[in-house]
Amino acid sequence: MPKRYQGIIDAMEEGVLLINRKLRIVLHNKRSAMILAWADELDGKDLKSIINSSDLIKAASAVFAGKNSERLTIAVYEGVCGPDAFTKGHGREKTIRIRITSLDEKLAALAITDITKIERLSLVRQDFVSNVSHELKTPLTAITGFAETLTDETLTREEIRGFSRIILKNSSHMQRIISDLLLLTSLDRAEIEPSMTTTTDTRIFQEVRSYTQHKANAKETEVGYFPVDKNVTCNESLIVQAVANLVLNAIAYSPDRSEVEVHTKIRNGMMEISVTDHGVGISKEDIPRIFERFYRVDKARSRESGGTGLGLSIVRHIAIIHSGTIKVSSKPGEGSVFTLSIPLS
Ligand SMILES: Nc1ncnc2c1ncn2[C@@H]1O[C@H](COP(=O)(O)OP(=O)(O)OP(=O)(O)O)[C@@H](O)[C@H]1O
Ligand SMILES: [Mg+2]
Repeated sequence: MPKRYQGIIDAMEEGVLLINRKLRIVLHNKRSAMILAWADELDGKDLKSIINSSDLIKAASAVFAGKNSERLTIAVYEGVCGPDAFTKGHGREKTIRIRITSLDEKLAALAITDITKIERLSLVRQDFVSNVSHELKTPLTAITGFAETLTDETLTREEIRGFSRIILKNSSHMQRIISDLLLLTSLDRAEIEPSMTTTTDTRIFQEVRSYTQHKANAKETEVGYFPVDKNVTCNESLIVQAVANLVLNAIAYSPDRSEVEVHTKIRNGMMEISVTDHGVGISKEDIPRIFERFYRVDKARSRESGGTGLGLSIVRHIAIIHSGTIKVSSKPGEGSVFTLSIPLS
């Protein structure tokens, strides 16, 4: 084939393979080798030895038997070359979509697209919708139930007051979920172009204290603040919200009369704010998951304390839009350290 044509198919976003009636590859582009994680020469190889899928062989045979085209989606496992490259158990899974089109009676073309990311995104979206529905359903069921009970005319004043309080608690929980979700969405879309001002860690800590002191008092927790009084350029209210979330967690996931410390360190042009507690800690398996929306290690306990499971995911978003990071180190039964780092300017 002329070099020009090879250049054209190499420039394509889709992987392309041409196969003959014997289902041997006669031509391929660079992208196809990338998608198939195939380092060696593909031309001349048996299609079966490259993509080990009986569905694919069936579809290809159907095209040579007279069908115009066939489409299929298959799960493959990347990272290994060879006949078992796409057999379960090797490397990471990915999903590819293949369209086979008949060119003439001797040749067919395979267009291959890697749809792993799109698939994952759509899974995340489905999970998210079902999580939100579930999280809203629980308080809503309580509200409906107790509102119904309130219509009973024989209730005493005390009972009415009690049920109303439950309704109020659940509706404010729903309000929190919704406002947290709205904040997350706007952070996601970077709608909040973080309007940066220069402030100091001392001021940030003062604000954090005013937001969190009532919770600390309620649990008789001693929260110590140790600023270095250094300037930092950030969206102050977002950073206050992030640190306050960390402090509230430190208080919530520690026993009563515990101690929490909030320190600042300056390192490599970054301001590192760390929140240390001596609470329940987090297991290794849970650490990567706690920043996911709605993830809670102990669902019952967190819901009891009015948690939505969105706090840390908000913190992570705030770190990201500041080009910063959030890290955690923790030992179950001993406590946790959450460190938020943001550039000084
Ligand atoms: N300092 C901590 N110590 C132990 N576990 C923690 C700590 N911080 C967070 N976690 C765990 O991570 C989970 C997620 O925290 P996150 O702040 O996102 O949600 P939440 O505290 O349950 O609810 P909220 O949205 O009200 O903050 C918590 O449910 C808890 O299990
Ligand atoms: Mg929290």
